[in-house]
Amino acid sequence: MRGKDLLTLGELTPSDLDSILTAAQRLKEGRRARAGSGALSGKSVAMIFEKPSTRTRVSFQVAATELGASPVSLSSSELQLGRGETVEDTGRVLSRYVHCIAARVNSHADLVRLSGSSTVPVVNALSDLYHPVQILADLLTLKEHKGRLKGLRVGWVGDGDNVCNSWAIGAALTGIDFVAATPQGFEPSAEAFKEAQELSKTTGTKVEATTDPREAVQGADCVITDTFVSMGLEAERERRAKAFMPAYQVDASLMSAAKGDAVFMHCLPAHRGEEVTADVIDGARSLVFDEAENRLHTTKALLCFLMLGPKELSGLRL
Ligand code: CP
Ligand code: NVA
Repeated sequence: MRGKDLLTLGELTPSDLDSILTAAQRLKEGRRARAGSGALSGKSVAMIFEKPSTRTRVSFQVAATELGASPVSLSSSELQLGRGETVEDTGRVLSRYVHCIAARVNSHADLVRLSGSSTVPVVNALSDLYHPVQILADLLTLKEHKGRLKGLRVGWVGDGDNVCNSWAIGAALTGIDFVAATPQGFEPSAEAFKEAQELSKTTGTKVEATTDPREAVQGADCVITDTFVSMGLEAERERRAKAFMPAYQVDASLMSAAKGDAVFMHCLPAHRGEEVTADVIDGARSLVFDEAENRLHTTKALLCFLMLGPKELSGLRL
């Protein structure tokens, strides 16, 4: 682990990531028996949301509660942040109260400022650049359904957005080949891809970008997409619809270019008839609700990893 925070998956080593996924699996299996209850007893987690959220907000809140910690969920308009208090002062103050801060922000730069001013771990609960906690859940889901991660091939089709950027890094860390097909002008972040490609040299995988959706899904074990219009980009809806439709819509014909047993993934919220057709997302090969559930189990493992430490996480009796 590079520091105290998780702003991007690149802060984890392949072995950190493996420990988090292993603990998440054990927390999932042991949930009925209240595995992990009390692990974070007496601690608090602050959550700041500058944008809407269903899965992240609820999964963090339930994860913290089931581990014995107290979650404090706030929108930025409820904080003095909304009236101009600086990110730095907010980070310093919250660090005096809580043991971890999760933040969903408009600008990744604000998360970096929050991380610099906080003495407690800061988790990226989605920024314009990355969505690392989503990829933890996606990786666990894929591992459960395919029995492994190393050697799989994942084809991304659609916007080169925050989820795509984090997927490139997550794939490189876990030995998955990742090919992203995006329209011209909607490519993934060059910085994220450079980092993923550097990492992929050490794990022996490929991380590639193309404009051809069929090339991305050819031979893929998993086809994955996300909305064409991420939060904050609503004014670009029309321009984006023109660029993405119909070529970058995941439909049955595109799925048939992947492996016969390929699965479909999407972080949700989804827009049926836009980035994916209803028959694909609601079909037998779709894992979207397993992915959503796994947000809870992976968030539990991540909170223990960041708030207790890697050694304590592997020593936890789950
Ligand atoms: N996938 C995801 O992060 O969903 P929310 O926006 O509902 O948190
Ligand atoms: N790319 C999407 C993900 C939503 C969970 C967005 O940023 O809105």
